[in-house]
Amino acid sequence: MAQAIRAVTFASLASLILAQQINSGHGPVAATPGTVLPAAAVVPASSTAAGAQLFQWESLQLTQPVLANLTNMNLTNAALFGFPTTSLAPTSQCKVFPGDAHWPPPIVWEILNLLTGDALTQVVPLAAPCYSGWPEYNAAKCASITSQWSDPNLHVNDPSSTQWPLFQGLTCLPPSLRSSSTTCTLGGYASYSIEVTNVAQIQLALNFARNLNIRLVVKNTGHDFADKSIGAGALSLWTHKLNDLKFYPNYVHGSYSGPAFKLGAGVETADVYLAAEQNGVTVVGGECRTVGLAGGYIAGGGHSPMSSLVLSMEVVLPNGKFVTASATSNPDLFWALRGGGTFGVVTSLVIMAYPKIPVTTMTFDFTMSNTLSADTFWAGVRAYMTYFATFTDAGTYGYFNIVPNTSGGFTFTFNPFWGANMTKPQLQALVAPFLGDLNNLGIPVTPVYTQYASLYPAWKASFPPEVVGGFNNHAASRLFPRENFVNPTLLNATLAAVRYAIEAGGILVGYNIKAATNSHANQNNSVNPAWRNTLTHFILPALWDNDATFAQIQAASETLTNDWMAKWRAASPGAGAYMAEADINEPNFQQAFYGSYYPKLYALKKQIDPYGLFYAPTAVGSEDWYITGQIPYVPTQNGKLCRKP
Ligand SMILES: Cc1cc2nc3c(=O)[nH]c(=O)nc-3n(C[C@H](O)[C@H](O)[C@H](O)COP(=O)(O)OP(=O)(O)OC[C@H]3O[C@@H](n4cnc5c(N)ncnc54)[C@H](O)[C@@H]3O)c2cc1C
Ligand SMILES: *[C@@H]1O[C@H](CO)[C@@H](O)[C@H](O)[C@H]1NC(C)=O
Ligand SMILES: *[C@@H]1O[C@H](CO)[C@@H](O)[C@H](O)[C@H]1NC(C)=O
Ligand SMILES: *[C@@H]1O[C@H](CO)[C@@H](O)[C@H](O)[C@H]1NC(C)=O
Ligand SMILES: *[C@@H]1O[C@H](CO)[C@@H](O)[C@H](O)[C@H]1NC(C)=O
Ligand SMILES: *[C@@H]1O[C@H](CO)[C@@H](O)[C@H](O)[C@H]1NC(C)=O
Ligand SMILES: *[C@@H]1O[C@H](CO)[C@@H](O)[C@H](O)[C@H]1NC(C)=O
Repeated sequence: MAQAIRAVTFASLASLILAQQINSGHGPVAATPGTVLPAAAVVPASSTAAGAQLFQWESLQLTQPVLANLTNMNLTNAALFGFPTTSLAPTSQCKVFPGDAHWPPPIVWEILNLLTGDALTQVVPLAAPCYSGWPEYNAAKCASITSQWSDPNLHVNDPSSTQWPLFQGLTCLPPSLRSSSTTCTLGGYASYSIEVTNVAQIQLALNFARNLNIRLVVKNTGHDFADKSIGAGALSLWTHKLNDLKFYPNYVHGSYSGPAFKLGAGVETADVYLAAEQNGVTVVGGECRTVGLAGGYIAGGGHSPMSSLVLSMEVVLPNGKFVTASATSNPDLFWALRGGGTFGVVTSLVIMAYPKIPVTTMTFDFTMSNTLSADTFWAGVRAYMTYFATFTDAGTYGYFNIVPNTSGGFTFTFNPFWGANMTKPQLQALVAPFLGDLNNLGIPVTPVYTQYASLYPAWKASFPPEVVGGFNNHAASRLFPRENFVNPTLLNATLAAVRYAIEAGGILVGYNIKAATNSHANQNNSVNPAWRNTLTHFILPALWDNDATFAQIQAASETLTNDWMAKWRAASPGAGAYMAEADINEPNFQQAFYGSYYPKLYALKKQIDPYGLFYAPTAVGSEDWYITGQIPYVPTQNGKLCRKP
């Protein structure tokens, strides 16, 4: 029945628009903007419950009178853009896909474009200028894209590009980076994208995608390791331009009273850190500069050199309604949105700010050599691990890696060891016993300490822009619990599991980190309980050549998941992994990424999104779906998204 409605709707809309074109003598775009659009009404900015005014663009909303107006003008009807009237049973097993009979014709997309204020574009792959089959073909542009390919900003500033092209199927890469890259298709990228600048556009898009059974994705910066921001045949919401940021020196909400920031969904970590510095406070965010703090970072329970507190969020729900989520308003949704992934489109959130604190960092490295054997090297790593509990209990964060050197040995590097709220003498005192142990092992190190007045200069000096765009690797990760480092038997088992993977060809990107336990931190959220007991977030990439075949990538990914990570899991039974920097092939991801909260999250997912509007690989409820045509262990987003029978 819903399909019949669709067919009628498409036909009547098409004839209406055609009539307008004929009457006005203009093309469809020129014919209507002045008379119709965009479909939004201004709602008072103070209408939110969360103690902070809505951003101006949050007060531009899709309301019933707007929808009624459109219907009266025969421009659209509730079957296309309306809020749900009854909870629709799914009409077909798969989301409609380009080429399907029920895929909306161009004229319908044009109406969506008009109603959103000319914000819709057809997705063009970022590297299309490198391919002569595309109208964008342009050798100079191709050269510029190729030279910037590993710069996150290139992908952050593109509506559809992801920072990890593996799961778009390795199509349309700069040809000089992968010699077998000879074609440019959309691959796993969305079909259409809306550059979001107000709430009404999100509401229209969600209603449209839900009513027409179209896949929907949300792209912010494209950082997620599993490429949760892409999907073939999808309508994509690009939230990057929602970058307002407002400081409240005295924000009062619930039991909190103090400084806070309200952040748009597109604000990047670097912008928040700078604003905090300028306002004399500290905020929580990741180590990486370009991660979307209010996007996937909070949704996934992001980790940080600091601890975290979100006070409230503004959200467009799968039913198209715009609501506030906080401890007092939609508390279940608020709980789920802080750790459980995407349950709606977050447009902004308010986070607490802390007083300014000093930071002292320490860097050093040690490497295997003729005088430093493999066993001594790993004894040095073991020595560090014995201090994991002591160091995190003192509030520090250790960021380090173990990478192969060119002659087959390994190098350990701090990048850096981070002493939040510590002076140089305090940090030196803390690490002295560890340095003594290294010395006793015969591992000479030369620590460099730097004290900073606040987080911003420390972070800026310590974390250079990251390198992304790679398709020669794929990572898994693990949150090893405290017991693994305080119990000597478990410590040895953990070290052996880590050593095995590194000697087999992996790289360790290590964080010695602990969740906040201070009284400010509202721990009643859905962040993976494994975070509460962890002393690590260990990331383990497996590598291959840029020109590797899918069969080779499959083999390497299978080894990562079923051999290297199997040993890590065996050494930490019942622990978990950080879902936003995790293995897309993680077995039993429900337990690993969500732990004991999974049943509650799944029930909330069914309640909030009974339509199955928000799908992403390894997201809550994703086990009810599959994507056609996937290669085992290389789950690209290129196929149709279908509900399991
Ligand atoms: C180089 C690098 C460094 C990183 N460093 C850190 C770090 O220090 N700490 C840390 O915790 N993480 C870190 N991450 C991981 C990062 O925080 C996560 O990948 C996070 O999910 C990115 O969120 P995003 O919105 O920027 O990215 P995206 O990939 O665009 O989005 C991630 C997910 O969130 C969803 N989403 C985005 N915006 C919204 C929204 N407004 N509403 C609803 N859903 C939304 C997307 O649909 C997608 O499912 C890093 C990642 C990389 C690649
Ligand atoms: C209804 O449409 C007319 C014509 O486009 C416009 O002037 C008016 O503001 C609209 N009303 C609402 C509630 O959107
Ligand atoms: C809308 O369509 C109906 C039925 O076709 C017609 O009676 C009405 O005049 C139309 N309204 C406008 C504003 O064109
Ligand atoms: C935590 O929040 C959830 C969701 O709102 C609520 O049901 C639960 O009672 C809260 N638990 C505690 C201990 O406050
Ligand atoms: C790399 O490791 C090997 C093997 O331990 C060692 O012989 C060599 O000196 C190391 N090279 C560098 C540059 O550190
Ligand atoms: C920083 O440390 C001081 C004591 O040295 C303490 O009073 C203060 O609360 C700490 N600040 C934070 C944000 O932890
Ligand atoms: C752990 O390994 C160290 C170093 O190899 C060894 O000295 C120690 O006995 C081991 N401890 C246990 C409990 O196995």
